[in-house]
Order: sequence, then structure tokens, then C-alpha cells
Amino acid sequence: MKRIAVYPGSFDPITKGHEDLIHRSLEFVDQLIVAVAVNVSKQPLFSLDERVALIQQAVPDKRLAVQSFEGLLAEFAKKVGASVIIRGLRAVSDFEYEFQMALMNRNLAPKIETVFLVPAFDLTFVSSSLVREVARFGGDVSPLVDPTVQQALKRKFSK
Ligand code: PNS
Repeated sequence: MKRIAVYPGSFDPITKGHEDLIHRSLEFVDQLIVAVAVNVSKQPLFSLDERVALIQQAVPDKRLAVQSFEGLLAEFAKKVGASVIIRGLRAVSDFEYEFQMALMNRNLAPKIETVFLVPAFDLTFVSSSLVREVARFGGDVSPLVDPTVQQALKRKFSK
């Protein structure tokens, strides 16, 4: 049976840290669905379509699908036939929220396991919010994001 995993997040925008986790996930799943959340609480910098397109451009792989979802992640994961939810853990500070979310998702979808992956050590400090902030003030984000994302950030902040 095909093992399908969902990797959910805001991806505003995708970073090298996300890319690293996608590549690690593809080592043990047959298909990975990157699930871009519609209803992020804060106003995102990139529209949903922009976030989806940037992921597709940054990580082209035939075993990867990028989809947006609205509502509960557990429902989306069930709908697409996933048996695994992938989340990244960068630091201890991530843990409490992730732990609660994993237990809530298990409550909603008992057959789906959350698997936590740790990114490459030199990417543990990278987050979309820091990337947005550095780019907003003209800092160099080239080591942290794909060149297409770097260009997209430049265009956003030159307006
Ligand atoms: O990249 P983020 O912002 O950390 O991703 C958080 C996300 C989108 C994965 C989380 O907020 C989520 O799953 N939202 C969908 C709504 C939902 O299912 N909420 C209950 C989670 S226990």
C-alpha cells in the first residue's frame, strides 16, 4: 500500500528548512502532500496561490503534490488518505505547541500518526517570519530560501 504523508503549514514563504524536511520525508513516504493552510491567523505576506506556486517551483518532485486546505488538518489528512502528518521540530520552544497539536490531531484522526523531523543543524534557526523580517529590511536571505522565493520577496518589498 502506498504511504501518503501530509506536511502542513503556512509556508509564508517556504524556506530551506521546509525544503530540508520535504527531502527527508521523501526518504520514507511514497507520496508527500504539502498542505498550505488557508486560514492562518495572521494576514500572510503571500497569497495562497503565491505560496503554493513558490513551493512547486522550489521543490519540483513527481512524488510531491502541493494543495491548499481550509478547516481541520485532520479532516484534510483523512480525505487525501494520509497515514502520516509530518511536522518539524527546531528547538525545545517548538515542542509544547507541537505536542498539543499532535495529540489533538490524534483525537480527531486516531489512525494518523504525527512524525516529527529535525532539520539540518545549520537550518534550525530559519523560520518564515525571520526570513520575512530580514527581507523587509533589505537583508540577504539568499542562504535561507530558494532563488525564486528570494526574487518574490524582493518584488513584494520593492512595492
Ligand atoms: O506553519 P504553521 O503556521 O506552524 O502551521 C500551523 C498549521 C497550519 C499546521 C496548524 O495551524 C493547522 O493545522 N491548522 C489547521 C486547523 C486545525 O486543524 N487546527 C487544529 C490543529 S490541532
